[in-house]
Amino acid sequence: MVHCGASSSCSSMALFMLLLCCHIASTLGQKPDSALTVVENAEGGDKGNEQEVTVLEEDVENLKVVQPQEQWQTLKPDEAVPAGSHVRLNLQTGQREVKLAEENRQYWTNKHKEKEDSQTSFSADELKQALKKMKDGDHVSKDADQQGSESFPHRSIEELKRDMAELDLLVETDLQIMKRLLDQFNSTNSTTEHRLNILLELEYLVHQVDNAQMLCSMGGLQMVLGGLNSSDSRLQEQAAFVLGSALSSNPLVQVKAVEAGALQSLLTLLATSQPLNVKKKVLFAVASLLRHFPYAQRHFLSHGGLQVLEVLFRTDSNGKFRSRIVTMLYDMISEKELISQAGIDQSQDTATQERLRQYSKVSIQEELLEKGWCNLVPQLLEASEHDHREKALRALLAMAPICLDQYRSNKSLLDSLFSLKDQYQEMVDTERLQGEESDYFAEMIEFINSLQHKME
Ligand SMILES: *[C@@H]1O[C@H](CO)[C@@H](O)[C@H](O)[C@H]1NC(C)=O
Ligand SMILES: *[C@@H]1O[C@H](CO)[C@@H](O)[C@H](O)[C@H]1NC(C)=O
Ligand SMILES: *[C@@H]1O[C@H](CO)[C@@H](O)[C@H](O)[C@H]1NC(C)=O
Ligand SMILES: *[C@@H]1O[C@H](CO)[C@@H](O)[C@H](O)[C@H]1NC(C)=O
Repeated sequence: MVHCGASSSCSSMALFMLLLCCHIASTLGQKPDSALTVVENAEGGDKGNEQEVTVLEEDVENLKVVQPQEQWQTLKPDEAVPAGSHVRLNLQTGQREVKLAEENRQYWTNKHKEKEDSQTSFSADELKQALKKMKDGDHVSKDADQQGSESFPHRSIEELKRDMAELDLLVETDLQIMKRLLDQFNSTNSTTEHRLNILLELEYLVHQVDNAQMLCSMGGLQMVLGGLNSSDSRLQEQAAFVLGSALSSNPLVQVKAVEAGALQSLLTLLATSQPLNVKKKVLFAVASLLRHFPYAQRHFLSHGGLQVLEVLFRTDSNGKFRSRIVTMLYDMISEKELISQAGIDQSQDTATQERLRQYSKVSIQEELLEKGWCNLVPQLLEASEHDHREKALRALLAMAPICLDQYRSNKSLLDSLFSLKDQYQEMVDTERLQGEESDYFAEMIEFINSLQHKME
């Protein structure tokens, strides 16, 4: 499905691709990687085994565009069909088959025939040309400037647009889609599977800042929060995923979510026994909620957020959560640090001053010390993944100003820093011998050095 923003219009290239996608359905799909994917969904039944069909760029040279008939006919691998045709996979033979869709039958028979000579529509050959163009990487607008040089791209884009005007009705705006999804989700007779699919679609949509905000104003936030309370863990997981994505870098949604009690709901889920996959997405949502939002961070701390995370950290035997948790703490510390480093300055605008004031109320460092995180974070150094150790080292450094006493008195931490340094020095040396120097391990050594330096 192609979603175009309600507010932002599609670029001409995107429109071109869309129109082509709508109009050309090849049946070459075996290597989805480099493919344009078209979901054939011609109206009028036969949905059962209609296929996702793809156009592969490298095969464009060999495309033969076939005119569908009223009867099903078998397609060869290198044959393409105009979209609107019905394409199906014959499960008995494994062959793809095509026939004219009823609505299009008239188009291709009557209308098309009448206008054939005046070329208000486009021929199979032109479609081929268009695909070739795409393969060659020619940009549409560039072609459009070269009036009359090549007959297809310039003239036909306009005609495609006109021809497809009726299809525009089928392309819903994101707003319409979300409205429909919410109604369906809310309907009492929709099944769990159906609701899961709806959440999946919403998760995709809310990555756009506008969409996430629209979702809130349509009452979708309540619906998603309700999903967190579901008795089906798959719905909980997916609802938390939608929430986390909607919250990401979206201050307006963050505010609305806190107002709607999202923080409490999420912390409750983390604190109670839930399947791991649910907790994983819930943790993601918490992190998105707290990011760059001191108000929520303060409430997180005062609602026992750190204790909840501590239990999760301690019971995380296979290390799924530790690195994420430590990263979250690190982010909170460094956000506040960055803001505070600037210091209060009369020249700052009121918004910045307000941010500073809000961050000054987030006593993350003090809370970390008090809740024993100076002794917990070092445990992440024992992870086998370099990435996790890196997160640990960064956090240890960020926490050093408050945790130095604990670090110094921890013999095991001192030892593990030494052995890690040896290990990474060895890796740097090996890489150097092989002539493939990366800075990653050297940077780990830097982290360890400065940590040791602080602890002296
Ligand atoms: C739910 O019921 C409405 C009418 O009552 C119907 O239109 C709709 O298709 C049903 N939805 C599902 C998923 O069964
Ligand atoms: C869902 O339905 C309830 C009552 O049936 C209604 O109050 C609520 O606004 C609906 N929510 C959405 C998002 O449509
Ligand atoms: C979820 O359940 C909790 C406790 O059962 C309740 O307090 C909360 O209001 C519910 N949230 C939603 C959005 O239904
Ligand atoms: C000391 O550091 C080790 C990691 O090297 C960690 O596992 C342990 O929890 C720390 N102990 C204390 C008391 O800080």
